[in-house]
Amino acid sequence: MGSFAKEKEFERSWWEKYLSGILQQGPIPNHVAFIMDGNRRFAAKKHVERIEGHRKGFDKLAEMLRWCQDLDISEVTLYAFSAENFKRSKEEVDSLMELARSKFAQILEEQDRLKEHGVRISIIGELHLLPQDLQELAYKLMECTRNNNKCRLNVCVAYTSRHEMTQAVRDITWGLEHGLIEKSDISEQLFEKALQISSVDVLVRTSGEIRLSDFLLWQSSSSYLSFLNVLWPELTIWDFYWSVLQYQRCYKSIKKQQIATELNTALTDTSSVKRMNNFINSLCAKRDCFTECV
Ligand code: IPE
Ligand code: IPE
Ligand code: MG
Repeated sequence: MGSFAKEKEFERSWWEKYLSGILQQGPIPNHVAFIMDGNRRFAAKKHVERIEGHRKGFDKLAEMLRWCQDLDISEVTLYAFSAENFKRSKEEVDSLMELARSKFAQILEEQDRLKEHGVRISIIGELHLLPQDLQELAYKLMECTRNNNKCRLNVCVAYTSRHEMTQAVRDITWGLEHGLIEKSDISEQLFEKALQISSVDVLVRTSGEIRLSDFLLWQSSSSYLSFLNVLWPELTIWDFYWSVLQYQRCYKSIKKQQIATELNTALTDTSSVKRMNNFINSLCAKRDCFTECV
């Protein structure tokens, strides 16, 4: 994951290493999600162009991925651009698309490094709303990293959680129509597996806003929610460590709730479990096939 950042840019001081060592004595979240908010307020504060705020946001992202890698966090999900964000001015949307274009192309060029670090990238959202060339870059990125299996980076673009859930319902209907599952197999567990993104342990939102803005509504049902009073480009390693520390403080109650949910929703009928697993495998193959076709 930290392969997005150049090694020398991220040499850590002894006290950063010391603190990360202490955090690693406790439970480390498997999956952390970020709502990277506050780029424009940062730009206004620094009296620079909006796009400069977004650029600084991308730089912060590379830095943050390195922090996650250092803690051995195996899955990171980012809210990069919501479907609602298309309602912003054409100038801002175009410059954000241009920024995404150059970052995707840059990451594609560094695919060997991604392979070396085993990073699988998924770009999730209503990708058909993106400019054609950006869609192609997104599918190429997914295709060339799909066999990497050490850690996962999910980038939500043109995303809303409600759309992701609606898509899961459509996919379940497809499974029913193709006889892969039966009506009686429909359960919370099946629905959860049909979503593209799995449950998160910690969800961080910067910029002081206390809302989810249609991000991971299902997957955050028992997450530790960390609302930080800092603009995304200003996020420091201390803010991040603070969120992880708070998760560790609440770990017991979070796990208790996660286990209770798993027990309540676990399927007991073995043939139903078998059908569910076959269906999910077919669904993943269908999604992967789409990335291959473009
Ligand atoms: C988040 O920062 C980045 C995107 C939504 C693309 P904003 O652009 O929302 O910045 P603020 O929240 O208006 O400061
Ligand atoms: C949420 O931020 C989306 C991203 C960070 C990409 P917004 O700034 O778009 O959200 P609202 O409009 O304040 O809820
Ligand atoms: Mg915002």
